[in-house]
Amino acid sequence: MQRFINNLPKAELHLHIEGTFDPELMFEIAKRNQIKIPFSSVEEIRSAYEFNCLQDFLNIYYQGAKVLIQEKDFYDLTYSYLEKCAAQNVRHTEIMFDPQTHTDRGISFKTVITGISKAMEAAKENLNISSLLIMSYLRHLSEEKAFKTLQDSLPFKNLITAVGLDSSEKGNPPSKFKKVFEASIKEGYIPLAHAGEEGNSDYIWEAIDILGIKRIDHGNNALQDKNLIAEIIKRDIALTVCPLSNTALQVVNDLKNHPLKKMMNLGLKVTINSDDPAFFGGQINKNFIELQKALDLTKKEIYELSKNSFQYSLLDTETKFKFLLELETYYSEQNL
Ligand code: HPA
Ligand code: ZN
Repeated sequence: MQRFINNLPKAELHLHIEGTFDPELMFEIAKRNQIKIPFSSVEEIRSAYEFNCLQDFLNIYYQGAKVLIQEKDFYDLTYSYLEKCAAQNVRHTEIMFDPQTHTDRGISFKTVITGISKAMEAAKENLNISSLLIMSYLRHLSEEKAFKTLQDSLPFKNLITAVGLDSSEKGNPPSKFKKVFEASIKEGYIPLAHAGEEGNSDYIWEAIDILGIKRIDHGNNALQDKNLIAEIIKRDIALTVCPLSNTALQVVNDLKNHPLKKMMNLGLKVTINSDDPAFFGGQINKNFIELQKALDLTKKEIYELSKNSFQYSLLDTETKFKFLLELETYYSEQNL
C-alpha cells in the first residue's frame, strides 16, 4: 500500500508555499539575510510547533516568513518544495502564496512573484512538474488592503490563475471580501477560498453564494448542514481536505475520526493535500499513508482521491486528460 501511494501520480491542490518552509532552510536563509529569529536551533523551532488552534499556528507561520527578503529566498523556498513533489510523484501542484505577508514588510510584489515563478519554470524544465499559482488574500486584513494587492498583481496577471482566501477564519466571513472577489473575477482570476475549517457551515454558504468559489479549501464543516452538502454536490464543487493539518490544528481530534470517508460516501468530491507540510508533520504522501491506515482506505478509494485531484484541478481539459490517462495506466497495471 505504501509503495502504491508513493508511486501514484497525483496533484496537490491545497498548499501554502510559506507553509513548506522547513526549519533547516529557514535557518539558512535567516543567516544569509542576517535576520534574527527567536530560536537557537532547528530542534527549538520544531518543538515550537504545538498548536491548539488555527491562530496558534498562524502566529508562528507569519513569524517564520519574515526571513524571506530576496528574490532568491522565494526561489529556493519554492524549488525545495517542487523537489519534494518530484520525489512523491506529484505531477501537478496549485501553489498558494500570501503576498500581503511580504508586501506589509516592505518586500515588493515583484520580488515575491518573480522568485516563485522562476522556480516553477525551472521545475517544469528539470523535474517535469506542472504547477500554477493561487494568490491568497489574508482575511484578517481589510478588503481595502486586498484591493491594493489585486492592483499590485495586475502587471503579473499572466503568472496567476486564481485567487484564494486564507488566515484567521472566525470573525472574518467570506462576505467581507465580496467586492474584491467580484473585481478579481473581472480580471480573469478563478475564485477559491478556505471555508469551514474553523468557521461554521454559514461561511461555506457565503463562499459559494457570495464569492462564487469554484473549490472549497478544507470544507470540513459542510457536514453540519444537509442542504449545503446537496448544494455542493449539485454545483460539482470539490473540497481540498488536509488530514494532518486537521489533527495538528485540532479541527479533528484523531485521524481515526477524520470525516473523509464519510464525505466520500455522501458523494462529495474530495482530495488529499498537505496544506503547510513543514508545520503539520508530513508531506502529501504521508497524509495519504496516515489516513489510509487510520480509515482503512482501499486502493480503489486512494485511486478515486487522486483522480479527483486532476479532475478538480484548474488545468485545461486537454492537460487534465493527459494526467488522468497517466493515472489510469498506473492503476490498471497495479491491478494486473
Ligand atoms: N487555514 C487558514 N489559513 C492558512 C492556512 C490554513 O490552513 N494555512 C496557511 N494559512
Ligand atoms: Zn490552507
